[in-house]
Amino acid sequence: MLPSFLTILGVAATTVLAHNCPVADTSIVAHLGTPTGKIEAHNGYNMYITKPEMEMNTTKAVLYLTDVFGIQLTQNKLLADSFARAGFLVVAPDLFNGTPAPGDINVPGFNTTTFLNTHGPKQTDPIVAAGIAYIRSLGITKIGATGYCYGGRYAFRAGGNLTSIPTGQGVNAVFAAHPSMLTDEEIKAIQGPASVAAAETDAMMPAARRTEITSLLQGTGKEYSFAVYGGTSHGFGVRVNVTDPRQKFAKEEAFLQAARWFTVWL
Ligand SMILES: *[C@@H]1O[C@H](CO)[C@@H](O)[C@H](O)[C@H]1NC(C)=O
Ligand SMILES: *[C@@H]1O[C@H](CO)[C@@H](O)[C@H](O)[C@H]1NC(C)=O
Ligand SMILES: *[C@@H]1O[C@H](CO)[C@@H](O)[C@H](O)[C@H]1NC(C)=O
Ligand SMILES: *[C@@H]1O[C@H](CO)[C@@H](O)[C@H](O)[C@H]1NC(C)=O
Repeated sequence: MLPSFLTILGVAATTVLAHNCPVADTSIVAHLGTPTGKIEAHNGYNMYITKPEMEMNTTKAVLYLTDVFGIQLTQNKLLADSFARAGFLVVAPDLFNGTPAPGDINVPGFNTTTFLNTHGPKQTDPIVAAGIAYIRSLGITKIGATGYCYGGRYAFRAGGNLTSIPTGQGVNAVFAAHPSMLTDEEIKAIQGPASVAAAETDAMMPAARRTEITSLLQGTGKEYSFAVYGGTSHGFGVRVNVTDPRQKFAKEEAFLQAARWFTVWL
């Protein structure tokens, strides 16, 4: 029993070597360090822009829509940089005009209700549209939107037909990690492939809602996927305890879910 088991392992190892297969190569995902992109103003808004090394040959872009902590949060910039290392031009508009939510939203003086009321679709859709318009001005027409928490909803809106963005001028594929406040209408309005990564523990997307979203995605008739990551809570796509192997795995896997989604469906 033991020798044959080892033989099987040996054969498997040789096969991997022969194909140099990078199974779960997560080296492009940065958890720590210094962001490599820069802030530029376009179409009236600041945007964090990060480019792949082979910039000349870039034909696909990622519109990165942040959580309430904005492009000011280092982890958001680092994750945007990770998409650039995967080969995409990345544009992350400043969704909160320089004043995102504080790192700890429970600090006195910060009113979440007021913040969300003053950053609804009326305020945010035009900023998202400005990011898409900037990407299109570079001649890039294959655009995926990736959104986290707050931004997840706007990724769906960017890929749907509920905004003033003309049909065909939005984004072509959508990924959202633990989207908050995502409505049924926004899912039904989607015009292309859509993928969702969900946390196991998320008051804004409990198990019953996950089931509803999966069935709404199926109802769109478009390509879709929905993944739940064990051992995670809301926010894991961006902010995790990287010394916890389950959380680190989930963040990396959700990134790869998005990067593969855009590589294949854009
Ligand atoms: C860009 O693509 C062309 C054609 O596929 C290739 O010959 C060239 O080496 C690429 N350049 C870079 C910088 O990757
Ligand atoms: C937050 O603002 C809303 C109105 O925007 C108000 O009704 C509510 O009482 C405020 N909450 C706190 C804790 O101040
Ligand atoms: C928006 O898209 C949905 C789904 O493709 C479709 O049923 C609906 O008619 C569209 N609405 C408009 C205004 O184009
Ligand atoms: C991070 O995860 C490690 C390993 O599970 C744990 O020991 C540590 O207490 C966690 N840190 C925080 C701040 O939760």
